[in-house]
Amino acid sequence: MTTNSENYLIEDFVKDVLGILAVTTDEDQILKRVSPLAQRAAADKTWRRDDMYLVDTELGFGSTLLHAEPDNSLFIVVDSWLPGRGVPPHDHGTWAVVVSVTGPECNIFWERVDDGTRENHAELQKISEDVISIGEVACMKTGEIHSIVNKTNETTLSFHVYGRHLNHTGRSQFDLENNLKIPFLIKTR
Ligand SMILES: [Fe+2]
Repeated sequence: MTTNSENYLIEDFVKDVLGILAVTTDEDQILKRVSPLAQRAAADKTWRRDDMYLVDTELGFGSTLLHAEPDNSLFIVVDSWLPGRGVPPHDHGTWAVVVSVTGPECNIFWERVDDGTRENHAELQKISEDVISIGEVACMKTGEIHSIVNKTNETTLSFHVYGRHLNHTGRSQFDLENNLKIPFLIKTR
């Protein structure tokens, strides 16, 4: 892939996001300012590779690392989703900006309805659903819970930006059937 002055490279995006993080810790501000830049970076084709479509068939998705800041303060991945698959409800332990790259992505938002006093126990109820089309963005503040499902017949890609490396936030995924809260680590290639 050749690059030109029109390209918005991941390294430029990283520099711009770090610039935002240097001047504000307000998540509303961060999400508002990072979102249009993430849309621009996601639309740029220079980072795309065919092997990003590979998935862990057991999990139903795959993750490719684009950037991990050495102090864990910024984490960028591309996720691939098998048709009909996705990821169960989870939080991130930080803010998140997601941009759909190749197909509509169904995001379902959840809230805890238990009192949080029982260890490893969580009860969730669905709040809303938002299908983001190619180029559209979904923003989440720390603590928000969502799940994703790919309702298309193709493997789709989405671009994810987080305010901290996801394996350093103590985040959780939720087992809806058994009302369990489980640690959720990510494996990237
Ligand atoms: Fe997520």
